[in-house]
Amino acid sequence: MARLVIVSNRVPAPRPNKEEKAGGLAVALKDALTGRPALWFGWSGHISASTEPNVHVVGDTTFCTLDLTEREHRLYYAGFSNGMLWPLLHYRVGLTEFRREELEGYRAVNEKFANSLMPLLRPDDMIWVHDFHLIPLGAALRALGAKQRVGFFLHVPFPPAALFDALPQGQGLLADLKAYDLVGVQTESDAENLRNAMHDGAHVGAFPIGMDAAGFAADAVKSVRRKEALRLSASLSGRALILGVDRLDYSKGLPERFKGYAALLKRFPEHRNKVTFLQVAPISRGDVAQYRALKRELDELAGRINGEHGDIDWNPIRWITRGVPRAQLAGFHRLARVGLVTPLRDGMNLVAKEFIAAQNPHDPGVLVLSRFAGAAAELKGAILVNPHDPEEIAEGLHAALTMDTAEAKSRWAVDMETILANSAAHWSQRFIDALQASQAALVN
Ligand code: ADP
Ligand code: G6P
Repeated sequence: MARLVIVSNRVPAPRPNKEEKAGGLAVALKDALTGRPALWFGWSGHISASTEPNVHVVGDTTFCTLDLTEREHRLYYAGFSNGMLWPLLHYRVGLTEFRREELEGYRAVNEKFANSLMPLLRPDDMIWVHDFHLIPLGAALRALGAKQRVGFFLHVPFPPAALFDALPQGQGLLADLKAYDLVGVQTESDAENLRNAMHDGAHVGAFPIGMDAAGFAADAVKSVRRKEALRLSASLSGRALILGVDRLDYSKGLPERFKGYAALLKRFPEHRNKVTFLQVAPISRGDVAQYRALKRELDELAGRINGEHGDIDWNPIRWITRGVPRAQLAGFHRLARVGLVTPLRDGMNLVAKEFIAAQNPHDPGVLVLSRFAGAAAELKGAILVNPHDPEEIAEGLHAALTMDTAEAKSRWAVDMETILANSAAHWSQRFIDALQASQAALVN
């Protein structure tokens, strides 16, 4: 079996005494790797002046990571990747901040990665580059003479060409994408947008990312019996649990979600003191200004909603900005009557799939899902809502909370079948097969 070389900015390399960073990319790729010899290359997560790669071998996978200097981190990661590309690709042109210096820093880190990776490559490797941090990496490897197949997968949405046009020198990034033998995105609509922007889409395809539903279901069964889930369950005193789990990110629609929950309590008073909304949202990218502002807004909203709607024996919202281990979350999902997943835009949203996977088949909870998550194209059993409208979120919540078991079961069964059919391993195999079969587009 040819070795797989994965390149991504975030690498879940073993880091002693460090909490794992939550994020769909690392979770899905980890699930996808089982049983295949692999080299996983990327950022160590550390900031230092060291240029020595950090190497860890775990089973068949060798993790090789580089530190970033403070300047590289500021320009490439916090600046161009998260201050410009992330909001742009999530359709939020108004939040973007462009600085030429950051674009240059972004290109420089991509070249640094290519220079370090090149000597580690073997002639028959399959190289698979991931996400918006590394768009120019394939072209940088080609410039150094790499002849291997190189594929790219974009985990986040790709906006309509007219929005992407707002990016100064955006054509340069689109040209970089042509160095890849295959470019994968999450949905058909992302593929269409990208093909239109590139005016040549022969090698763009939709590969919706999957997850290990059976494994997550087994985790949920175990974890619902453990201490933390029992504590949560006891603390609800019989109230229905509405659960949200997201990185603390403005793409997740959290203020609108909080307002939607407040609208539920106002418009459908029968739910007062009968439900509890737990939102787990670990702080993410805290060095980017928009993320800090979001946390302040949510702290205030949660406080206000609890003040206005709470009772002497009831806090309507529980709001946690710490990370919670994924295995524990599986049990929380299983306890929840409603999974509330309302991003304003999301490439896929694995949390929606995890909620489905974790349910008890005999008495499943109901998923209320944003129309604008990639997952909405697949999860036909969910109650779909427009996440910009708190009233619609409230109606979706009310419908979910009052749904009879027979309907909940049939909706859940449809979605469970869908996610069982697309595991992370299937997803990566589909991409790798297509990469193997592909012809380089415009490569030397
Ligand atoms: P994104 O990639 O934008 O973070 P996804 O929903 O696709 O969104 O993926 C998030 C992943 O991170 C999921 O696998 C989820 O279980 C995990 N995750 C999200 N929030 C937490 C949290 N509070 N603690 C631990 N893991 C989390
Ligand atoms: C999303 C992105 C990933 C990223 C993750 C966590 O899933 O698509 O590329 O790794 O968020 O964000 P972070 O900035 O902490 O890596």
